[in-house]
Amino acid sequence: MKGKVEAIIGTQWGDEGKGRVVDAVASRVDVVVRYQGGANAGHTVMAEGETYIFHLLPSGMLYPGKTCVIGNGVVVDPQQLIEELEGLQEKGKDRARLVLSGNAHVVMPYHKVLDGMEERFRGTGKRIGTTRRGIGPCYMDKVARRGIRVEDLLGPDVLREKLTFNLEYDNLLLTRIYEESPLSFGEIYDQALTWGEKLAPYVGDGSLVIYRAIEAGDTVLLEGAQGTLLDLDHGTYPYVTSSNAIGGGGCTGAGIGPVQITRMTGVAKAYCTRVGSGPFPTEADEESANRLRDRGGEYGATTGRPRRCGWLDLVALKHAVRVNGLTGIALTKLDVLSGEKKLPVCVAYSHEGRRVEDFKGGYSFLEKVKPVYKEFEGWEEDTSNCKNFDSLPEQARKYVEFIEKETGVPVVFIGVGPKREQMIRRGL
Ligand code: IMP
Repeated sequence: MKGKVEAIIGTQWGDEGKGRVVDAVASRVDVVVRYQGGANAGHTVMAEGETYIFHLLPSGMLYPGKTCVIGNGVVVDPQQLIEELEGLQEKGKDRARLVLSGNAHVVMPYHKVLDGMEERFRGTGKRIGTTRRGIGPCYMDKVARRGIRVEDLLGPDVLREKLTFNLEYDNLLLTRIYEESPLSFGEIYDQALTWGEKLAPYVGDGSLVIYRAIEAGDTVLLEGAQGTLLDLDHGTYPYVTSSNAIGGGGCTGAGIGPVQITRMTGVAKAYCTRVGSGPFPTEADEESANRLRDRGGEYGATTGRPRRCGWLDLVALKHAVRVNGLTGIALTKLDVLSGEKKLPVCVAYSHEGRRVEDFKGGYSFLEKVKPVYKEFEGWEEDTSNCKNFDSLPEQARKYVEFIEKETGVPVVFIGVGPKREQMIRRGL
């Protein structure tokens, strides 16, 4: 095959700044593909003086002439997608071609209700802290083989049959388990048909579009959502999302053969953040966390929740190198660290008195670990106008070089501010 596929994925708990890294390479790729997750993601892209937050649209949508694919592995909230498309149309920025995979699953209104009910049922202490976008319940229906797919929105009879079956089941759950009112068929059915009409022009075969593009010599970019530590299998289970956010998820979630992916870039924030519950070994004390949050604007793009903040965790980053097969690291938000006197970097965990360097995602392990830090001197200088590696303060260069040495992976991109031009390219 003449073309190639590369991937940009998250190495932490999401919010690493994948949107802007994708945006930085979008001009040299032809097809941008979302392959998992749904409107739980919030990819922020700043372009032409405006800020865009995409929850479902691939970040390549702002580029004229690109093809953007929403792959079969994504769970699609149709209302959200329609609003994002209309938002771009109003601004005259719908300049890319969108292909919405017919075999992607649809987040239905009852999925969102059930997401909230399940969280309530878990109660304080066991709550996942989901985004309540219906992600888990939609993937549950997919795996249980009763899910409604995008293509079903275009067939009134199939839709009626599937929706009747699903509502019968979910209304039992709602009324008998959660003691809530049942949902009405008519309203959801009519709404779903309207979604189908609006989305019909975009529905296609994502896998085929990608295959043809590779055959034609194009470059395809897989855009991960969430991050490795939220991956259903390789993350901090059970405090994870319900899909495979790692690069391998791109094969199943977009319909691509594994050997076609030739470049795997992992996006890592220069420190760490997490939203929602679950273990976070390098979480900072309140004072440092507040400082990082204020400087880094660490509030969820989807839910507005303040993010938990902490220090860079190289044990976790090396895990991301392993399970994704990273060929490069894109380090974002390095500018946020300016002014920190000391920079702790976690190089190992201490688990029941023993030093551990290999990450394990399981909760029973992680709840018992304490980070072992190597402390770096910070730097005062503002880095937000640095255009190349040599113009960074010496301590910042040492910080980056240490990451490269420990992970064995080159840092191919450094983000020094939120704007498109605030970046240092080193081969990405
Ligand atoms: P869900 O994906 O809504 O089911 O949420 C499961 C967990 O993943 C929660 O801890 C969420 O806060 C987290 N999560 C889901 N999507 C994102 C994201 O895009 N960025 C950061 N955290 C996320």
